[in-house]
Amino acid sequence: MTVQGDPCSPLGAVGWPVHTARLLLRRGTAEDLARTWAFRRHESVGYWLPNSPATIEEYRAVFESPGRLAKMIMVELDGAVIGELMITVADAWAQAEIVERARGAQAELGWVFDPAHAGHGYATEAVRELIRICFTDLRLHRVTANCFAGNEASWRLMERVGMRRELYTVRESLHRSEGWIDGVGYALLADEGAGGRSEPDRSG
Ligand SMILES: CC(C)(COP(=O)(O)OP(=O)(O)OC[C@H]1O[C@@H](n2cnc3c(N)ncnc32)[C@H](O)[C@@H]1OP(=O)(O)O)[C@@H](O)C(=O)NCCC(=O)NCCS
Repeated sequence: MTVQGDPCSPLGAVGWPVHTARLLLRRGTAEDLARTWAFRRHESVGYWLPNSPATIEEYRAVFESPGRLAKMIMVELDGAVIGELMITVADAWAQAEIVERARGAQAELGWVFDPAHAGHGYATEAVRELIRICFTDLRLHRVTANCFAGNEASWRLMERVGMRRELYTVRESLHRSEGWIDGVGYALLADEGAGGRSEPDRSG
């Protein structure tokens, strides 16, 4: 197992690739543009996503946007990319004199999977592992995920992996075809996830 030294991304601290029972998780590379376009190109995949590019060139602009690749994790089944995970590490809110202790303490998670492989629990398996990575390897305090309330497949996934619904927002998000619609937000704390591990010591 190799540890990729990448000081620009928190994911550089993880030993990649990471294996689960059925899947392999690895850092995203420039070559994943075409591999992910293979399923991103389906209109149904982009329905709830921020971007729904119509061509691979439009998708390239999204894929190559600054800083994005450093946050991407590819999910492989038998050598083929079947999904992608995104992790955005950010500071937690803190009062001014202790703000340093909240730096990089939480992460927002995201996911997109090939519909051809839906319904087998692959996304659940990959996101469970991503949460383990967040708490065990990255020693984060909290992970979050958000989606439109209508994206039932996504929030059901959040619930399957044990995340707690903490937000229900009313018509605060603008969807390209549905207009202003509701959103949901989920979270999980370190001492609730990764098999009930205790909170990392952030006092120092
Ligand atoms: C969100 C998304 C990843 C969920 O995919 P999914 O196929 O429902 O999730 P999983 O791969 O975990 O499969 C779960 C299903 O497999 C079933 N399953 C079978 N074997 C399973 C196993 N070993 N473990 C868990 N679930 C299993 C579950 O019961 C569930 O079926 P159900 O939906 O009929 O209840 C997918 O819909 C997607 O990529 N959507 C488009 C992109 C998107 O909207 N992303 C989120 C933006 S916020």
